[in-house]
Amino acid sequence: MWGGRFEGGPSAIMREINASIPFDKALWRQDIAASKAHVAMLGAQGIVSNEDAAAISGGLDAVAAEYEAHGVPENWDLEDIHMTTESRLAELIGAVAGRLHTARSRNDQVATDFRLWVRDACDAALAGLNALQVALVTRADEHSASIMPGFTHLQTAQPVTLGHHLMAYYEMAARDVSRFADARVRMNRSPLGAAALAGTGFPIDRAMTASALGFDGPTRNSLDSVSDRDFALDYLMAASQCALHLSRLAEEFIIWASQPFGFVALPDSLSTGSSIMPQKKNPDAAELVRGHSGRIIGSLTALMITMKGLPLAYSKDMQDDKPPVFEAASLLTLCLAAMTGMVEATTFKTARMRAAAELGYATATDLADWLVRQANVPFREAHHITGAAVKLAESRGVALDALPLADLQAIDARIDERVFAALSVEASVAARASHGGTAPSEVRKRVAEARLALGLD
Ligand code: ARG
Repeated sequence: MWGGRFEGGPSAIMREINASIPFDKALWRQDIAASKAHVAMLGAQGIVSNEDAAAISGGLDAVAAEYEAHGVPENWDLEDIHMTTESRLAELIGAVAGRLHTARSRNDQVATDFRLWVRDACDAALAGLNALQVALVTRADEHSASIMPGFTHLQTAQPVTLGHHLMAYYEMAARDVSRFADARVRMNRSPLGAAALAGTGFPIDRAMTASALGFDGPTRNSLDSVSDRDFALDYLMAASQCALHLSRLAEEFIIWASQPFGFVALPDSLSTGSSIMPQKKNPDAAELVRGHSGRIIGSLTALMITMKGLPLAYSKDMQDDKPPVFEAASLLTLCLAAMTGMVEATTFKTARMRAAAELGYATATDLADWLVRQANVPFREAHHITGAAVKLAESRGVALDALPLADLQAIDARIDERVFAALSVEASVAARASHGGTAPSEVRKRVAEARLALGLD
């Protein structure tokens, strides 16, 4: 493609280090679409004849059909998907193929192709997140009143409802949706027509190619257009945050599935056995989601560091932008699907969860709150009285509501028999009906709102 200026060909090592075709062949559909938009514009603007534009467009369709049928050939001499396609086009339609690259550079070409690819990746993430949200809301609805221990420091804190716990992950997913949607809006400008870095002297119509490719319009600065990879970083940031959320959800399932907890039976379809221990059912899918999140976050770091300190405009370092994005996108798709399947098909052992909520004095706060409300005791004093009651119950190895009233009254005379009604786990969760609280009534409201937002009702 540049033989005019060179006397010798590249060394083997140059060919190898230069080649991006092994990975950027994934951009072939975007490359064909962008080339077709470009040549249609060249024809419409009279920059190439309509006849040549039609020949090139038809030739691009033929190349696409070959790629579809046989895959993209990987010839390192042709470096990347752009030169691979152009060279095959020339073989198919002859010298007229050489007019395609008028008023264009591989710099704006790759920036355009990659944006189109990342835009699709945003859409795929949004679809995967939607499925996860539907699964979470469905299971939360089913378990709006199922009681489990709520934890802080992974120590029993207060009883909560399982529906409430699952809806916490719905909220994380909702923020992820907004991050991908926001990134998609920002990236949806077309760099095509920025050419190598400075724009072009040909009378191109950038608005026309932008609209043909579904962009909201052209980018505003040619230097920025060819050197900007913010769209890929925006995607990776949203993907990293999403993967981080998925890793937390995965970790919950791993803990809940362990025998001392026994809160869930994971679906067989998302578990594995052990080759030596016949009794084992391992939460491998959840563990791999937890692990993959590290690789996704690593891909963000990789691209950040590739881009850091690069002067304007295009530098070849930027060819390394694609592998981390491709890897993160395929891992994220898998992780979203795995966690959606797990949420859908896990059996929640609600009796076991409820029994665990009764351990660990989870309703101690309810005793303190009762003293505040019924006996007008200042909260700090109520906290102290309750601490003494917990200490006594612990020394006897019984639950709070198993202490005889006389013993409670010996700690504080203002306690009466009405307190026992407040100490059950049901009363505890039902009482927490503040907006966004764990009460089944509140969970049902949030579920109803979420179902509306998801278009399920
Ligand atoms: N293979 C290159 C990439 O992925 C295409 C752009 C090459 N541009 C250039 N001036 N060498 O970034």
